[in-house]
Amino acid sequence: MTAKAATSASDSVSARAVAALSGVKSEPGITKPDEILVAENINRHFGGLVAVDVDRLSVQRGSITALIGPNGAGKTTFFNVLAGFDTPDAGTWRYENHELRNKAAYKIAQLGMVRTFQLTKVLAKMTVLENMRLGAQRQLGERILAAPFPFAWSGQEEQVTERALTLLRRFNLYEKKDDFAGTMSGGQRKLLEMARALMTDPTMIMLDEPMAGVNPALTQSLLGHIKELREEGLTVLFIEHDMDAVRDISDWVVVMAQGRIIAEGPPASVMRDKAVIDAYLGAHHDEELTKSGESLTQNKKAKST
Ligand SMILES: Nc1ncnc2c1ncn2[C@@H]1O[C@H](COP(=O)(O)OP(=O)(O)OP(=O)(O)O)[C@@H](O)[C@H]1O
Ligand SMILES: [Mg+2]
Repeated sequence: MTAKAATSASDSVSARAVAALSGVKSEPGITKPDEILVAENINRHFGGLVAVDVDRLSVQRGSITALIGPNGAGKTTFFNVLAGFDTPDAGTWRYENHELRNKAAYKIAQLGMVRTFQLTKVLAKMTVLENMRLGAQRQLGERILAAPFPFAWSGQEEQVTERALTLLRRFNLYEKKDDFAGTMSGGQRKLLEMARALMTDPTMIMLDEPMAGVNPALTQSLLGHIKELREEGLTVLFIEHDMDAVRDISDWVVVMAQGRIIAEGPPASVMRDKAVIDAYLGAHHDEELTKSGESLTQNKKAKST
């Protein structure tokens, strides 16, 4: 396929995803026409606190879906469960045709679903390139039997490095490749995390507050990268507090409050939903709702960097 044909094919993937959502009712848990991820009856308690109590979440393939909600709503805990970093007290979820309950995070990543963290997990005392290489999975050289025979895996090592360098170029981090990751700004670390997650060539990426603590110029660049991922046919599920960013890039918005999904729908209508405004007001009653009540307060936190 030519580059042009590939572009128009992927354009139509994202265009189709968006068009398919236009006929979907704005109801919590509503089934999407082409689901890539479905979670049902997910429950996670911490002692007496119900952190997550989600009846149903369905994510449309090829879309950018935002997961929003006030602080402590259970968004990160829900991500942890879905991506295999935490075990729920109850619930089932599946990605494509794979049941994910009891699957470890690395297995889920191998199936094509990867996530990044609210607090970046780049390794400060390793170089940017080394961080990227860590993102590659199933490296032959890591298998005990193959390790003493470099000829068996050196070709693959080169491929991993090549992919790492390509991604670093794409994310404007190539010049930093030999720097310690600890010397980078908060925003650059967010970019590095996203680039590293792409080392495994996933089909779905889950981003936990990719814009938190990132300066405005880098925010634009991050938003551009996320849209590009959709153009390539990836599915994106991202947690975000910045409502301008949510409005700008999301095809669909899911709202959590007190562990539950209380609303979902296209960005403009969800942000006018009374239950959504009330949920934010309940948590931020001293903060301002933006112009004419049409959008939610922005809660830009600097806690992640
Ligand atoms: N390991 C834990 N032990 C005990 N309580 C926890 C734990 N992790 C999360 N919680 C609690 O669960 C609730 C949901 O937390 P979570 O971090 O999932 O919220 P969030 O929606 O991601 O919030 P934020 O927007 O601030 O990141 C909060 O009340 C939190 O204090
Ligand atoms: Mg969180």
